[in-house]
Amino acid sequence: MPDFQTWANAQQRRFEDVLRRLLPQPDMAPQRLHAAMRYAVLDGGKRVRPLLAFAAGELVNADIARVNIAAAAVELIHAYSLVHDDMPCMDNDVLRRGKPTCHVEYDEATALLVGDSLQCLAFQLMAEHRLNDDPACQLAMIKLLATASGSRGMAGGQAIDLASVGKQLTVPELEFMHIHKTGALIRAAVLLGAHCGNALDQAQLDRLDHFGKCVGLAFQVVDDVLDSEADTATLGKTAGKDAEHDKPTYVTLLGVQAARKMAAELHREALDALSGFGEGARRLRELADFIVLRKF
Ligand code: IPE
Ligand code: IPE
Ligand code: MG
Ligand code: MG
Ligand code: MG
Repeated sequence: MPDFQTWANAQQRRFEDVLRRLLPQPDMAPQRLHAAMRYAVLDGGKRVRPLLAFAAGELVNADIARVNIAAAAVELIHAYSLVHDDMPCMDNDVLRRGKPTCHVEYDEATALLVGDSLQCLAFQLMAEHRLNDDPACQLAMIKLLATASGSRGMAGGQAIDLASVGKQLTVPELEFMHIHKTGALIRAAVLLGAHCGNALDQAQLDRLDHFGKCVGLAFQVVDDVLDSEADTATLGKTAGKDAEHDKPTYVTLLGVQAARKMAAELHREALDALSGFGEGARRLRELADFIVLRKF
């Protein structure tokens, strides 16, 4: 069996072709919007959410063509969230995935429409491709992604993030924000991958969901640590932005050491949640390691 890095690289390359095919072609009207959508999605990013969907899909022997669509839907929502997150009305960032942000390369109105269009495309794909033999399960998958993306998920977390600038949150408040703005989509990626394959029982799904919750929160804790410790060239986005914008993070609240300790605890809890799954969960375990130990 290939080692994690070899597996991840192969999945990332394969998935890039999937995205190229699913996105509107750049010669199709309106060309500028389609070019900007492709700019925001292609050639960049770690593709952590798709990798989680593929790993969960492997656990249940899912048809890869089905997982491709679920993974693409999650990644399109994620890419849209980054385009909007970088806009002047939110974090006002100029660098993303090592390139100028979408509104800098194009313009603000185009960036807004790129986000709108990527979000719609995600749900269009889930509605037009078969993801599960049971139509009721497929509908539940669409609802899962909608909930994870909207005001009770990612967008709601972003609203709390913006409302928290300059404020001192409590640890539970910060956890609530992180679980929504970042955790929700990561959690959805794991479950959507699993729903593409053989049905798990409710107890197994609950354990997988707990795994997703832990790695989703850990992902943002590590993002906060990297924002304060890593450099812009390594991250491909501007470092030090959280402190500059007076954002409450685990680092500002607890300090780097306690934040790292918390990520390590979440890592352990995530691995514990997988303990009953055996060798089939190997890639999920390796992704938990990557999420906590990553340098970018
Ligand atoms: C960045 O996400 C934004 C957060 C939710 C923390 P990623 O670190 O997954 O960004 P890409 O997709 O690799 O660029
Ligand atoms: C973003 O959190 C979460 C999203 C939903 C996009 P951040 O604002 O910390 O993400 P980065 O650091 O800009 O990637
Ligand atoms: Mg932000
Ligand atoms: Mg940001
Ligand atoms: Mg950040």
